[in-house]
Amino acid sequence: MADNTTPTIMKGLEGVYFTETKICKVDGAKGRLWYRGYSIESLAKNSSFEEVSYLILYGSLPNVDALGAFRNKLVSCMALDGKLVDLIKGLNGKMAAMDILRTIVSAMPAFSEKKVFQNENDERIEEAIEIVGRICGIVATIGAVSKNGNYTGPDSTLGVAGNILYMLNGKKPDEKTSRMLDVMMLLHAEHSSNASTFCTIVAGSTLADIYSAITAGICALKGPLHGGADEKALDMMKAIGSPDNTEKYIEEALEGKKKIMGFGHRVYKAYDPRAKVIKAYLEDIQNGSTLEVQTFTAIALRAEKMMVEKLGETKGIWPNVDFFSGPVYTYIGIPKDLFTPLFAASRSPGWCAHMLEYWQDNKLIRPLDYYNGQLDIPYVPIEQRK
Ligand code: SDX
Repeated sequence: MADNTTPTIMKGLEGVYFTETKICKVDGAKGRLWYRGYSIESLAKNSSFEEVSYLILYGSLPNVDALGAFRNKLVSCMALDGKLVDLIKGLNGKMAAMDILRTIVSAMPAFSEKKVFQNENDERIEEAIEIVGRICGIVATIGAVSKNGNYTGPDSTLGVAGNILYMLNGKKPDEKTSRMLDVMMLLHAEHSSNASTFCTIVAGSTLADIYSAITAGICALKGPLHGGADEKALDMMKAIGSPDNTEKYIEEALEGKKKIMGFGHRVYKAYDPRAKVIKAYLEDIQNGSTLEVQTFTAIALRAEKMMVEKLGETKGIWPNVDFFSGPVYTYIGIPKDLFTPLFAASRSPGWCAHMLEYWQDNKLIRPLDYYNGQLDIPYVPIEQRK
């Protein structure tokens, strides 16, 4: 390319392939998603967060013994060192839950018996398992400390989702809500090179350690254009207030060129298959739940109907994974400011797996930016400047 030609700028790296992977495929046109070749529909129906985490990290489904050992490792890593709990208590009320999570994850190496940045892949997977379990325990503890100031350690008879609810509430959850959270977590476990996973890989591509890379991922996930949309979508449902206000609110928002949180996607130009699974829960929780959950659910279903009619086929703007999560998490008893931290805990296997895969054939990530300013401007001493 001659110096004076402007290169093609791919803003937001839209449509750019930066690596190859065997972890996840997203077919945006058809609204399909596979983890290691298994469809998200079959995993949501048959699998668990623990089994999916094993699949994402190791590349194949475990047998009974391997799954049992993996699950026990994850659950045991949900137990937090007292000093880490004290750090969480010290930050409680001083900043958002997502900021506390980012800070505590940065401090995790201080409380890990393993030396950081293992060289061998199996050691790295061991480290990844510890990170996933620890983040799940940290998220539950952030919620528990905010709720009642207490720390409850994990119960070895429960799985990860069950323990998040047990550690959050101090009492064992019922099977139905525990399984609902388990599916929500596996639906969020991985999604190819989304902004937070890409951020994780960018940080790790400099050969920074995995804790630094995961912390970078948490920072990126926080934004409302990415993982933070789940909390914003519920804020919108609260602002709408009652189902009959839904259409007017959405109409005015669209007229004001506002983005409706929980809709649209850089890759999906069809219905997000994860949103379909979560939507099915709404129909399930609509009856017999609190008035608040019934209201959120009715608003969500009316908003979805209107948005799909107005922007689905015409603009390829469909519900994404974040839209229906709010009413379901509220039904399960997850407080709103824990939605995105829970997304981070759920996505930690995906972040770790992509980092380990990229390190197998590492290349520093350093794209170009096109300079279009002046050059060789004469330096004027300060006393001569106006
Ligand atoms: C996640 O990448 C992943 O895989 C992410 C994720 C994962 O699992 O990791 O799937 C999780 O982050 C899901 C997305 C959560 N974010 C939101 O719900 C926020 C609301 N959505 C939008 O901000 C938007 O759809 C993005 C950011 C998600 C994607 O936007 P793009 O690809 O950058 O496209 P764009 O913002 O340029 O929008 C293109 C057009 C614009 O209209 P025009 O200017 O062309 O007229 O579509 C419109 C936008 O205004 N549009 C929307 C809209 N999203 C896009 N209009 C109204 N409401 C929306 N939500």
